[in-house]
Formats: sequence, structure tokens, C-alpha cells
Amino acid sequence: MSLSTLSFAYVSDLVRRETAMLYPPEKAYLVESRLEPLARAAGARSLEAYVAQLRHDPNEQARVADALTINETSWYRDNTPFRALATDIVPALLRERSGRHLSVWSAACSSGQEPYSIAMTLEERLPQDWTTEIWATDVSPTMVERVAAGRYGQVEMNRGLPATSLVKYFTRTGSEWEVLPQLRAMVRPSVVNLIDDLPAMPRFDVVFLRNVLIYFDLAVRHEVLDRVRDVMAPDGYLVLGSSETAMDLGDRWVRETCGRLQLHRPAPYVRTPAAAPTLTATGS
Ligand SMILES: C[S@@+](CC[C@H](N)C(=O)[O-])C[C@H]1O[C@@H](n2cnc3c(N)ncnc32)[C@H](O)[C@@H]1O
Repeated sequence: MSLSTLSFAYVSDLVRRETAMLYPPEKAYLVESRLEPLARAAGARSLEAYVAQLRHDPNEQARVADALTINETSWYRDNTPFRALATDIVPALLRERSGRHLSVWSAACSSGQEPYSIAMTLEERLPQDWTTEIWATDVSPTMVERVAAGRYGQVEMNRGLPATSLVKYFTRTGSEWEVLPQLRAMVRPSVVNLIDDLPAMPRFDVVFLRNVLIYFDLAVRHEVLDRVRDVMAPDGYLVLGSSETAMDLGDRWVRETCGRLQLHRPAPYVRTPAAAPTLTATGS
């Protein structure tokens, strides 16, 4: 089954309107492969017939936008951000936050490996008398349900999770592995679309916004970054994906290097050497 140019344009416009994700024509094969199961389930004779149906069905349009999100993720993805969280960011926040509470946001969290990797890191680094909440949000309701379920198949478990963490934080349920309740209690899943007004949220000390800006055009990246900045503590830490750190972030962020990681702080930010001794400002 294949899509005409017109139908592909309709679907890519729909996804762009709903999520801001860009699907250029060379990604037509991906769109077709994701639409095929939906077309079969809807009883359509062909992809063309399905798209014709889609034009009049808002529920089906929401299903298409959900199905076309790209959810690639893994445990401790790229390692460096989680190492920096453990060895630099958390120690700095332990010194700076007298309220003994940390708020962290994994924005665009996919199926949950990122927020649960953050939860395992904090579980190991925060003193007993500190509390934490980790917001885990995504535009895809299917992904948010997966975060809430906290269950993963063996292939997913094999992607980046150290054996010691598997033994410590998961139990086996049939063919799957389930996150322990103590970790699940730290994570707060919800549907949040980064291109809409954000819901009421805490002032986040740390935001992981990784591997999602790459799908947006420059204007949307700036809008999303402004929105994220508005819910961050003025001395909070923004962690982007490894290919996103070189992006033009405008003048509202200050770049800092932390070992091999590039961090971003809301500008203006005046560093106090005692607060973050290992972080080096490199300008925006
Ligand atoms: C490639 S995954 C990245 C997951 C995780 N942050 C990581 O780095 O492993 C990108 C995620 O962004 C989500 N996404 C796409 N557009 C979004 C939007 N407008 N608002 C919120 N999430 C969005 C997708 O649903 C997908 O789960």
C-alpha cells in the first residue's frame, strides 16, 4: 500500500499541527508503515481510502498523530547526562536547596526509560530526608500509559540497563519486567504537548528535554525552549540531547560544560563558585 503525494501532505500537515514534528517527503515509507496497521484496523481497502476516511474523523486523526511519534529511547541513554546528574548536578543542588526537595522534568519521555533512569540515579544520590518528584510527560497518550504501567520487555531491558539496576529495581512478571513501586512513586506521568500552554507545574530544578527538538523547526524550538524556561528555577539545569547541544538557543540560555556534557542555565545566571565548582560557563 502506498500514499499519493497529496495524501502524504495531508498526513504530514496533520502531524505537524498536532505535535510540531516535521515529516519530510523522504520519510513517506515510515508514514506508510505506521499507517498500515491503523488502516487495517479501520477496515479501509487501501491507504488512500484510509486517509479519505481520516479527513472526517478527529478521533482517528489523534490516533495517527500518536502512531507517528518517534519513540526511540533506552536506559541511561548516552550515559553522560546521568553521570553528570549523579556527580555534579545533584551535589550542587544538595548544597543549594534548603527545602530538601527536588523537582525534575523529563519532557518528551517516550516509554519511560529516561524518567526511570533519573529516578534510579536520584534514589542512589539523595539523602533519605529529601523528597523528589519526577514529571514524566509526552504528547503520546500511548507512551504515557507505558510510563504509568512501568513494564518492559526483555529486548527493552537489554538496552543500557546495568544488571545491578535490574536486580535492584525490577521484578519479573511473566515475560516482562516491572519497575518497583518505590521508583514508580517518584515518577508522575502525564500527557503534555510542548507546543501548547503548559499545565500548572512546579519550578523545576532540572529539565531533561532530549531528542525531541530535532524534530521541530527553528521557530518551534525557540517557542518550546521559552516555555520550558518559564517553569524552571532561575538557577535550574537544562539537559538537551547530544545532537541538540550545538543548536542556536538564542540569548536566553547560558551554556556550561560539565565534564563531557553541555548544560544550559536560564540567562541571566551569575555563577557562585562555591555553588557549582566543577561547572564552567562557556557563554551562549
Ligand atoms: C526520540 S523520543 C526521545 C525520548 C527521550 N527523551 C530520550 O531521549 O530517550 C522523542 C519523544 O518526543 C515526543 N514528542 C514529539 N512531539 C512532542 C510534543 N509536541 N510534545 C511532547 N512530546 C513530543 C514523542 O512522542 C517521543 O516520545
